[in-house]
Amino acid sequence: HATDATAIAHPNIALIKYWGKSDERLFLPRTDSLSMTLDIFPTTTRVRLAPGADQDAVVFNGEPATGEAARRIAAFLDLVRERAGSVERAVVDTENTVPTGAGLASSASGFAALAVAAAAAYGLDGEPRALSRLARRGSGSASRSIFGDFAVWHAGTDDLSSYAEPVDAAAGLDPALVVAVVNAGPKEVSSRTAMRRTVDTSPLFEPWALSSKDDLVDMRAALSSGDLDAVGEIAERNALGMHATMLAARPAVRYMSPASLTVLDAVLQLRRDGIAAYVTMDAGPNVKVLCRRTDTDRVATAVRGAAPDSAVHIAGPGKGARLLTE
Ligand code: DP6
Repeated sequence: HATDATAIAHPNIALIKYWGKSDERLFLPRTDSLSMTLDIFPTTTRVRLAPGADQDAVVFNGEPATGEAARRIAAFLDLVRERAGSVERAVVDTENTVPTGAGLASSASGFAALAVAAAAAYGLDGEPRALSRLARRGSGSASRSIFGDFAVWHAGTDDLSSYAEPVDAAAGLDPALVVAVVNAGPKEVSSRTAMRRTVDTSPLFEPWALSSKDDLVDMRAALSSGDLDAVGEIAERNALGMHATMLAARPAVRYMSPASLTVLDAVLQLRRDGIAAYVTMDAGPNVKVLCRRTDTDRVATAVRGAAPDSAVHIAGPGKGARLLTE
């Protein structure tokens, strides 16, 4: 096998959220989740084995990575080496195109690209399911970025049974996400910490996890029938429900900012005006608005009007992670 491999991956946005782990070491989630992979902000990662080196070298957008990011990548490579029966260190070179300060998580595209490149460089199984399980060990949501368009991540009960796979959607469904990057403000609680606190202390967590099962069933039906309004309604209730579980945690975790709420109001107004527009939000104040591709200009204008300081990005369904070298 090649000892030098480069892979590309894109972020994904969950329409049915992953929030809470049953096993933190294995990254086993409490619930199944479902996402759309985006066609913007790719991460490109090259992994080269470095015979004789005594530690991994990680370069992030041209700068040596340090601290938590470097530690997570080295831990991930240790897992790859353990599976490959290798002791060889690597040079990891990552280019991330998410604009700095955009407040959009890059762990999904980052670990999906790293998993694909590292598996190739160390000679591990390159089947999509094996790659999804591997990417999961870097960041749970990365398991879904292995696949393009829509993917469901089965929570599973152990390392083998927790993986993502593609979900079919009707050809007529023409979805887009208008991403409103609102003023990020002070650094938020990390999603890892917030998840743990929610599972441990929120009385709303179990009811949400239970209703999320129904949301997933309904979402699959909405996708296969190509019903964008249903897809949006289910995604919105699932995401707002997830934020409710956090608000009920002790102490509360609140990611919504005043600007987020202004955008939420603008989306309600769009709906009153007959536009299919629905929100989803993750571990930060940014708002992603799901709508028809043909409505993106109208939605983007409404979002800009509501939050003039925000940066607006438009995404459609994107491709899964893949090698750029063979
Ligand atoms: C709110 O995958 O970033 O975006 O597994 O701890 O790395 P770790 O968490 P991460 O969490 C994503 C949470 C979310 C919802 C989602 O993407 O499903």
